[in-house]
Amino acid sequence: MRWVDLTGVADWVHRVEVLPNLAVLILFCCGLTVPSSFVHHNLTVLEELDLSGNQFSSPDTPNWLGGVTSLKSLRLAGCQLSGTFANKLGNLTLLENFDFGFNNVDGMIPGALKTMCNLKSLDLTGNNISTDMKEVIDSIPSCSWKNLQQLILDSANITGTTLHFVSNLTSLNILQVSHNKLSGSVPMDIGVLANLTYLDLRHNNLSGSVPVEIGTLTKLTYLDLGNNTLSGVITEDHFIGLMNLKYIDFSDNNLEVIIDSHWVPPFKLESACLSSCLLGPKFPKWLHWQKGIRELMISNTGLVDRVPDWFWTTFAEVTWLDISLNQLSGDLPINLEFMSVVTLLMQSNLLTGLIPKLPRTIKLLDISRNFLNGFVEDLGAQNLQVPVLFSNAISGTIPTSICRLQKLRILDLSNNLLSKELPDCGQKELKQQNSSGNNSTKFISVSSFLKITTLILSYNNFSSGFPLLLRQCPSLIFLDLTQNRFTGELPGWISKAMPGLVMLRLGSNNFSGHIPVEIMGLHAICILDLSDNNFVGVIPPYIENLKALSSTDTIFRDPFEEEEIGEYRSLRMGTANGSFTVVMKEKVIEYGENIVYLMSIDLSRNNLTGEIPEKLSSLVGLISLNLSSNLLSGNIPYNIGILQLVESLDLSRNKLAGEIPKSLSDLTYLGYLNLSYNNLSGRIPSGHQLDTLNTDDPASMYVGNPGLCGHPIPMQCPGPPTDPPTNKDPTRLPEDGLSQIDFLLGSIIGFVAGAWMVFFGLLFMTRWRYAYFGLLDRLYDRFYVISIVTWQKWFRPRV
Ligand SMILES: *[C@@H]1O[C@H](CO)[C@@H](O)[C@H](O)[C@H]1NC(C)=O
Ligand SMILES: *[C@@H]1O[C@H](CO)[C@@H](O)[C@H](O)[C@H]1NC(C)=O
Ligand SMILES: *[C@@H]1O[C@H](CO)[C@@H](O)[C@H](O)[C@H]1NC(C)=O
Ligand SMILES: *[C@@H]1O[C@H](CO)[C@@H](O)[C@H](O)[C@H]1NC(C)=O
Ligand SMILES: *[C@@H]1O[C@H](CO)[C@@H](O)[C@H](O)[C@H]1NC(C)=O
Ligand SMILES: *[C@@H]1O[C@H](CO)[C@@H](O)[C@H](O)[C@H]1NC(C)=O
Ligand SMILES: *[C@@H]1O[C@H](CO)[C@@H](O)[C@H](O)[C@H]1NC(C)=O
Ligand SMILES: *[C@@H]1O[C@H](CO)[C@@H](O)[C@H](O)[C@H]1NC(C)=O
Ligand SMILES: *[C@@H]1O[C@H](CO)[C@@H](O)[C@H](O)[C@H]1NC(C)=O
Ligand SMILES: *[C@@H]1O[C@H](CO)[C@@H](O)[C@H](O)[C@H]1NC(C)=O
Ligand SMILES: *[C@@H]1O[C@H](CO)[C@@H](O)[C@H](O)[C@H]1NC(C)=O
Ligand SMILES: *[C@@H]1O[C@H](CO)[C@@H](O)[C@H](O)[C@H]1NC(C)=O
Repeated sequence: MRWVDLTGVADWVHRVEVLPNLAVLILFCCGLTVPSSFVHHNLTVLEELDLSGNQFSSPDTPNWLGGVTSLKSLRLAGCQLSGTFANKLGNLTLLENFDFGFNNVDGMIPGALKTMCNLKSLDLTGNNISTDMKEVIDSIPSCSWKNLQQLILDSANITGTTLHFVSNLTSLNILQVSHNKLSGSVPMDIGVLANLTYLDLRHNNLSGSVPVEIGTLTKLTYLDLGNNTLSGVITEDHFIGLMNLKYIDFSDNNLEVIIDSHWVPPFKLESACLSSCLLGPKFPKWLHWQKGIRELMISNTGLVDRVPDWFWTTFAEVTWLDISLNQLSGDLPINLEFMSVVTLLMQSNLLTGLIPKLPRTIKLLDISRNFLNGFVEDLGAQNLQVPVLFSNAISGTIPTSICRLQKLRILDLSNNLLSKELPDCGQKELKQQNSSGNNSTKFISVSSFLKITTLILSYNNFSSGFPLLLRQCPSLIFLDLTQNRFTGELPGWISKAMPGLVMLRLGSNNFSGHIPVEIMGLHAICILDLSDNNFVGVIPPYIENLKALSSTDTIFRDPFEEEEIGEYRSLRMGTANGSFTVVMKEKVIEYGENIVYLMSIDLSRNNLTGEIPEKLSSLVGLISLNLSSNLLSGNIPYNIGILQLVESLDLSRNKLAGEIPKSLSDLTYLGYLNLSYNNLSGRIPSGHQLDTLNTDDPASMYVGNPGLCGHPIPMQCPGPPTDPPTNKDPTRLPEDGLSQIDFLLGSIIGFVAGAWMVFFGLLFMTRWRYAYFGLLDRLYDRFYVISIVTWQKWFRPRV
């Protein structure tokens, strides 16, 4: 009765007892509660009981099951059971399969269970066993050692250097002890376990070399030693008898794989992960024999070679292909349409040539940091979601075939030599003569990038007007066009077409004309950078409509949060530039994804005139404001002190006049202030934070204002001196180099990213799926649900 909702059926034991011949009872995820007891029961032939995924939340493990002595298979995974093991389970002497994964039980099964002599499979994954491997083996009833076939102890907080004790379990065919704290070496006598088909020791602290005896395990199909501290050399001998091997993972160790170029492997792999092993400098020839392989990860393996000719055809069936972080050279083939790859990672190599026609299947492509120089005309790749192409030498224009990539989510083309304009993607513009005599403009969308959230075109040579393509990107969140030669006025449709924009960066271009008033309709905007253009006229009114900046607790939309691209998130954090530089406190700061949390307005280096709008004070979320190098006149708004979070304020090189408002000294987080080269006059306010700024040369904040007087500039004010400058405000945060925002960012990002990466890693990353879902096919949905049900508990310690 898998998934049948039985919440509220309190006496469910009695309900099933009326079926005395019941042999198999599956009440998986039924919302059951703790039963009273099975003591006086009629279920004398019940052999298989699966109660997984019911939240019993009982402090005692199920003593109530002690009476069902006919049981051969008992599954209680993810039942939120805690406390210690129930002694009464010891009466289940016939038990063969015992699955107790994902509970909160402390410690190992006690001696009381030593009568379970028929045990064949024991699963304690995700409990807190917190003892060493020897004790774990000792707690398994010794009469069952010869029978035990499956021992599954992933993420169970197992320690110690005593892995070799598993060799007492001579019948083992599945051994999973991944994500524990085992140290010591992989035992030499591993060869004793001749039936082993599945060996997963991933993510421990195993050291030493990989014993060559591993090559005698002829039945082995799955071998994962990834992410330990193993060292030494892997040779052909390690593989000599592994004719059944399908999956291998040696990644993230200090291993060197030295294999003769004429060697013919005995196996046909489906998946190989050798990232961070040393395979090079020549491209390993033995891979040529692995034609059916579906996943190949050889990132950062010291390859200094041309990509071999056979590469693309041999690996045509691969779905996940990672050759990043090597020094592989050569042109890419013009057409890769015949491949089946979904994720193709080639970043940080020396690849040249054009970006080829891509497979229909591809979703993620990262070829950043290479030397590619253009696009083929027809890109193919109807399913492409995330092309990451920054830091190449791509010149010319973006081909119109990009208009067919309707599933695009993130497009990063920054730091290339692209020029002219973006394709318009076939939008028809219909100008209609309105009956009232006014013209209305209507756009008929032929194609539309409904899903694109991030478009990064900075550091290129584009020279068109504001790209019309952007009219059809309604989901856009991050837009970065900085450092190009875009010209013309900003269109009024900017806020209607992209209502969700969080970041709009147009700095260092050649935009001109007035800043359209519609820009104040960008309610979600947190980062607005129009600096270093030719904008003229006034700062448009209604600045208070920038709602996200008007709040100190804006909830940001994160472009990476959608679950389908969960797996890309970690990639991006690790490898893509992901960084947007921000000039703050006169330093260029790389903010990475933290940029999402930086609230800033930069209108510097334009020809803006008029006054600073008084309503500016409603943007209480602002952290950085830069209006320098314009032609602004009038006073500094008297209420500027309301912007409590401001850390960086630059109003220099304008025509501001009048006195510096006293409220400036209320800005307790201020770390950078520049009011130089204006026409300010009167006494410089002092006190609080203001006296701690720029202590090397405090006068530089005020130079070029002939009318100013008082500390810290030499000019004395007429009249009696006011209070001497006070010392540091005691309420201020300590100066430890970390600003308040950095700190905040750190904790928020750390939390969010950590949880998402690990969680989605488990659910979606292929390698993990192998590890956790691989041999448990028959339990497919159970496992999925349990990880949902218990993920909080699971990851609590890591977050
Ligand atoms: C377990 O077995 C012992 C001895 O066979 C018996 O005394 C005890 O009542 C049993 N416990 C349960 C819960 O059936
Ligand atoms: C795990 O068990 C150990 C020893 O029993 C205990 O000290 C520790 O607090 C437990 N950890 C958690 C997260 O429950
Ligand atoms: C692992 O066990 C140690 C002590 O044995 C304990 O301090 C620690 O909290 C445990 N960790 C987890 C994640 O349960
Ligand atoms: C278990 O294995 C260890 C190490 O291999 C060995 O010293 C010990 O004698 C074995 N115990 C039994 C009962 O076989
Ligand atoms: C890993 O093992 C080494 C010794 O091999 C030890 O120095 C180090 O502290 C261990 N690291 C962890 C995280 O246990
Ligand atoms: C490898 O293990 C270390 C700690 O032992 C962990 O911090 C790191 O995230 C792991 N890497 C992978 C890829 O699992
Ligand atoms: C005419 O223009 C006005 C204002 O631009 C608009 O509200 C109205 O819908 C238009 N009428 C037609 C028939 O397009
Ligand atoms: C036509 O446009 C003018 C200015 O562009 C506007 O004042 C007028 O209200 C519009 N008329 C209608 C009927 O929308
Ligand atoms: C309306 O469009 C027509 C044709 O494009 C143009 O001649 C006319 O000047 C426009 N009228 C207004 C009020 O913009
Ligand atoms: C940018 O384009 C212009 C002409 O459009 C060209 O003169 C200039 O060399 C280009 N700059 C770069 C860096 O390619
Ligand atoms: C910037 O645009 C103006 C016209 O708005 C043009 O005269 C000027 O040449 C452009 N400058 C560059 C560097 O493209
Ligand atoms: C901006 O102002 C400067 C100096 O006042 C002037 O030289 C320049 O031509 C102006 N640019 C524009 C686009 O108005």
